[in-house]
Amino acid sequence: MRSILLAVSAGPGLDPSIIDTGPLITVRRAGDLSGRVLVPGAKNSVLKLMAACLLADGTSEISNVPRIADVSIMSELLEAIGLRLDSPEPNTLRVTNPGDLVPVAPYELVERIRASINVLGPLLTRCGEVRLSLPGGDDFGARPIDMHIAGLEAMGAEFKTSHGYLEARADRLHGADIVFDFPSVGATENIVTAAVLADGVTTVENAAREPEVVDLCHFLVSMGADISGVGTSRLTVRGVGRDELRPASHRTVPDRVQAATYIAAVAVAGGEVEMVDARPAHMEMLLTRCRDMGIVFEPFEDDGVEGVRVSCSTRLRSVDVQTLPYPGIATDYKPLIITMLAVADGVSIVTENLYPGRFRYVEELQRLGADIRTDGHHAVVRGQPRLSGAPVRAHDIRAGAAMVVAGLAAEGTTTISGVRHIDRGYDDLVGRLASIGADIARVDP
Ligand code: EPU
Repeated sequence: MRSILLAVSAGPGLDPSIIDTGPLITVRRAGDLSGRVLVPGAKNSVLKLMAACLLADGTSEISNVPRIADVSIMSELLEAIGLRLDSPEPNTLRVTNPGDLVPVAPYELVERIRASINVLGPLLTRCGEVRLSLPGGDDFGARPIDMHIAGLEAMGAEFKTSHGYLEARADRLHGADIVFDFPSVGATENIVTAAVLADGVTTVENAAREPEVVDLCHFLVSMGADISGVGTSRLTVRGVGRDELRPASHRTVPDRVQAATYIAAVAVAGGEVEMVDARPAHMEMLLTRCRDMGIVFEPFEDDGVEGVRVSCSTRLRSVDVQTLPYPGIATDYKPLIITMLAVADGVSIVTENLYPGRFRYVEELQRLGADIRTDGHHAVVRGQPRLSGAPVRAHDIRAGAAMVVAGLAAEGTTTISGVRHIDRGYDDLVGRLASIGADIARVDP
């Protein structure tokens, strides 16, 4: 009898490792992971801290800056607007605002980084006008900015679009009472940064409460902004004069999604790892679900170093999970959660409530033998004892990290292409995983 081996294709029929000429990551299942890993600063905080430097003349200093591609792209964008950036030491950025800004965010840069939308609020309040290339969608779906616009309009801005650009104008923004119908991270950040220099008081109801939003508010307050309710869903910003704002120094909050990645790695490979600088208070719901799966967490403090010890010595158990705005389980954790559940004992249902299209990586996990069915914004995951290594593609940052974790749970070799997505948000994922015992390598072309 002849047997036929068919390649299970993720895309239009080609093996992904053949069509990607960029770097690849190869991963093989290793034994238990052990050791210490430092959790870097958060991408989704540092990019906003950098944009906030548009508000105050002078030199601000941001530390705990992750070495990721998105920081380089944001630096290019801010330089195009008129800021000067340099790095006096590793993981520190010095950002100088000379006061003379060009309030234009060009297409070539905006299309490369979603967080470029975060220059809208600071530039509008600071310069009275902005020309921003309209941001596109993401691989996981459309990402509208209607709430950013409606909020700024309530503060007196006028918008029009022409030739792919969003043009905003406001001689002087004024305070307003803004109620969001959804706690959007980006819209909260844009309104708050704009309100810092507006006339009067702005309130934001149903504001986002993510640790990265809180981090931005703390930075703004250290610059001289008057913000109360930080960390709650009702923010009040009293506008101050431009001469009352000054540059500041700030340490970026640790990245909870990178921390979750190391949790997922230990969960599927087994072992015990100390995550230095991980903040359990920023991941409470996630840790609760992970404990339900059988993962053990213990805070540690040792000679001035603190963080969370994560260990796992049994097969994971299935759990049902749904994504929600903070303090719920973040959508950015979901590819990692689905990967863990793909090797758990039992059947789990995962529901996505933020980005309906954020399931594309499921096809890649299926190539590795995962049993996952999606229906609308639900995924039903039937856990398998092991996955089976294959070439797969990273479609976005978090999906890429999930592929790496899946490779740790797969027999044979998993080769991941689309590594540039991982580089956008992960500071040396390969080196960090290798340092705790993973069998992983990066192959640069
Ligand atoms: N939304 C609207 N209109 C708006 C704004 C948002 O409909 O005006 C919708 C979005 O389409 C989406 C939902 O609201 O369905 C959430 O959007 P939100 O504004 O909260 O997200 P964001 O600011 O665009 C940030 C992170 C994302 C993360 C989300 C949710 C940055 C640069 N990005 O995006 O991170 O998934 O919050 O937590 O901070 C990533 O890091 O890989 C990433 C995608």
